[in-house]
Amino acid sequence: MRHSLFTTPLALAVATSAATLEDLCTVENVQSALPADGTILGIDLLPDTVTAAAVYNASTGGGMMKRQAGGSTSSATYSYCNVTVSYTHTGKNDTIPVIFALPQPSDFKNRFYLGGGGGFSLSSSATGGLSYGAASGATSAGYDAFNNAYDAKVLYGNGSINWDATYAFGYTALGELTSIGKPLSQAFYGSGNGTKLYTYFEGCSDGGREGMSQVQRWGEEYDGVVAGAPAFRFAQQQVTHVLSSAIEHTMDYYPPPCALKKIVNATIDACDSLDGRTDGVVSRTDLCMLNFNLSSIVGEAYYCAAQSSTSLGFGFSKRQAGPAGSTTSYQPAQNGTVNANDIAVAQGIYDGLFNSQGQRAYVGWQIGSELSDATTTWDNDTNSWALSIPSTGGEYVTKFVQLLNLDNLSDLEGVTYDTLVDWMNTGMIRYMDSLQTTLPDLRPFQSSGGKLLHYHGESDPSIPSASSVHYWQSVRSIMYANATDEEAQEAMSDWYQFYLIPGYAHCGSNSLQPNGPAPQDNMATIIDWVENGIKPSHLNATVSSGDYAGEVQKLCQWPQRPKWSGNSTDFECETDEASIESWTYTFDAFKLPVY
Ligand SMILES: *[C@@H]1O[C@H](CO)[C@@H](O)[C@H](O)[C@H]1NC(C)=O
Ligand SMILES: *[C@@H]1O[C@H](CO)[C@@H](O)[C@H](O)[C@H]1NC(C)=O
Ligand SMILES: *[C@@H]1O[C@H](CO)[C@@H](O)[C@H](O)[C@H]1NC(C)=O
Ligand SMILES: *[C@@H]1O[C@H](CO)[C@@H](O)[C@H](O)[C@H]1NC(C)=O
Ligand SMILES: *[C@@H]1O[C@H](CO)[C@@H](O)[C@H](O)[C@H]1NC(C)=O
Ligand SMILES: *[C@@H]1O[C@H](CO)[C@@H](O)[C@H](O)[C@H]1NC(C)=O
Ligand SMILES: *[C@@H]1O[C@H](CO)[C@@H](O)[C@H](O)[C@H]1NC(C)=O
Ligand SMILES: *[C@@H]1O[C@H](CO)[C@@H](O)[C@H](O)[C@H]1NC(C)=O
Ligand SMILES: *[C@@H]1O[C@H](CO)[C@@H](O)[C@H](O)[C@H]1NC(C)=O
Ligand SMILES: *[C@@H]1O[C@H](CO)[C@@H](O)[C@H](O)[C@H]1NC(C)=O
Ligand SMILES: *[C@@H]1O[C@H](CO)[C@@H](O)[C@H](O)[C@H]1NC(C)=O
Ligand SMILES: *[C@@H]1O[C@H](CO)[C@@H](O)[C@H](O)[C@H]1NC(C)=O
Repeated sequence: MRHSLFTTPLALAVATSAATLEDLCTVENVQSALPADGTILGIDLLPDTVTAAAVYNASTGGGMMKRQAGGSTSSATYSYCNVTVSYTHTGKNDTIPVIFALPQPSDFKNRFYLGGGGGFSLSSSATGGLSYGAASGATSAGYDAFNNAYDAKVLYGNGSINWDATYAFGYTALGELTSIGKPLSQAFYGSGNGTKLYTYFEGCSDGGREGMSQVQRWGEEYDGVVAGAPAFRFAQQQVTHVLSSAIEHTMDYYPPPCALKKIVNATIDACDSLDGRTDGVVSRTDLCMLNFNLSSIVGEAYYCAAQSSTSLGFGFSKRQAGPAGSTTSYQPAQNGTVNANDIAVAQGIYDGLFNSQGQRAYVGWQIGSELSDATTTWDNDTNSWALSIPSTGGEYVTKFVQLLNLDNLSDLEGVTYDTLVDWMNTGMIRYMDSLQTTLPDLRPFQSSGGKLLHYHGESDPSIPSASSVHYWQSVRSIMYANATDEEAQEAMSDWYQFYLIPGYAHCGSNSLQPNGPAPQDNMATIIDWVENGIKPSHLNATVSSGDYAGEVQKLCQWPQRPKWSGNSTDFECETDEASIESWTYTFDAFKLPVY
């Protein structure tokens, strides 16, 4: 098993001349490039498992944001070395297959890149880095993550947690992938001679959580991380997906979905102009929250035609349902007026969870966000609307809290708001150092020069944007305890920048606020920051539809907030204490601090 970088002369030989993909992409060269036993503590590569084969002119690649924007717009093709290899944890006798895509030498820009997954899936694609001239990889994480979502593997059976899979999904599998992939890439190209290998992570939703997990646990390994709408504070986040149903159950009122859609639409209409411009986008949900009373919508008429609708699973899949986490259900025509109960449901959801003592447990989605989790189901037998518990939350409760191998809660009998808080507390404590992903002390990342771009759609209906604000505030208070706000903001801006994206939904544009801006160049921005020292002061974001299509807006860096004044061609970024205060929460329903 023992091998070293220098037993095979090929790597050294090819490094000295202009090597081609054919020269480098051989089993022998990859075997000689594997990090030797003892160089990565606790990890032993298995050279006999290496495969290597060149792939030519593949129309793959395209980083994460390009895929989100509807697929790569360019017809670029890439040639790369497709490498597979397995490793084992010392003394454990496990086998973890991983895959790498190493660009042809003329494309390689001394970069290593990992892309995040979504829902309970790690990314199974190793080619995400090719468009950046980066080597990149994907991991089976020890539970065949190429073919399984982690939630299918978290329990061996009722009551029995698969902790290996849990830590692997939590953070270890990706950290190990990077610590193997970096020296492998350097030796593969013969560039392990002190040439800096710039290392990036990019992801959104659980991919954003994965990015944060790497910043928190493997900080020294990464130079630049782009983390969108992270699904972190995992216990609170997942149980929050049960909140809408719990409100309906507690009120014993199941609103027609059309009534809630009307409430959302009317809120957007009412709050659109509060940011200084009427463009269909609520760029200041804080001003909406502070100035708009949902009750004013009571009595407004709504109508929705009968339909067989398909609702999205927002990244966390409804596993028992069809592809991409969607469910199809019949809805009759709905013609009515918004009533006080409809408003009470919406208000409760936007307010977030409190226990029976009135102590806050978690944040809600920003006012004006879609109320997807609250969607009830039509019961043909009773001709009425009925409870539909989103499996995003229900499955978390059954599998991770109750430890029952069931895909959803069957009902909410006996469940109160206090029960939800208990579920959060149990999940938080049980998975504190695996899934929770809220460590606020980022000194290893910061002191090794890492840069973090963190963004969140302000109208995200799946992961509350305030949950990202709270993490930024936690890092600020833990790492800059004695600094003034101005000092802390200035210091953080040098390495950790956070942006709210007006109107944007969950890792994608918002069909109800389609005129909102969307950042297109996050990787270009972080690469410029890391490699050229160009620190951003804002993010460029492009409007793709409506009267302002083509406009590039400069997104304000938190805690500054956008405001149009007069006929300005871009919003100004203002500091508004009342707004910041509205984003600031204390979770006193828990005894432990919630970072
Ligand atoms: C890949 O594309 C290039 C440029 O179009 C072409 O020269 C080359 O022959 C192609 N290689 C293969 C293996 O198809
Ligand atoms: C990469 O190699 C593995 C192992 O041989 C193979 O299963 C996979 O299909 C290859 N991928 C591509 C894109 O050729
Ligand atoms: C290691 O695992 C293999 C099967 O994966 C098994 O055949 C072998 O006996 C195990 N070795 C030890 C020392 O447990
Ligand atoms: C696990 O527990 C649930 C709930 O009690 C039960 O329905 C299910 O049959 C159990 N599964 C097994 C494999 O025992
Ligand atoms: C180190 O590797 C890089 C990339 O292959 C190469 O350009 C450079 O010349 C090498 N430097 C030395 C001192 O060998
Ligand atoms: C809400 O607004 C969207 C357009 O933004 C429209 O398609 C939909 O029908 C409206 N829904 C209701 C219930 O008014
Ligand atoms: C909103 O309006 C309702 C009905 O007029 C009123 O009862 C309630 O107190 C108002 N809420 C706030 C926060 O002003
Ligand atoms: C909705 O109901 C109102 C009042 O009953 C009626 O006037 C209107 O025509 C209905 N709308 C549709 C589209 O059926
Ligand atoms: C409910 O009734 C509608 C209209 O009659 C029908 O189209 C639909 O298939 C029924 N759904 C179920 C689940 O039976
Ligand atoms: C803040 O100040 C206190 C008292 O001077 C000191 O003990 C502590 O280490 C400081 N904390 C930080 C993060 O600098
Ligand atoms: C934003 O766009 C302007 C104009 O094209 C450019 O100069 C600037 O570098 C961009 N900033 C970022 C952070 O991408
Ligand atoms: C904005 O420009 C329009 C047209 O040029 C003008 O009529 C309007 O008064 C301006 N508004 C402000 C607030 O300056």
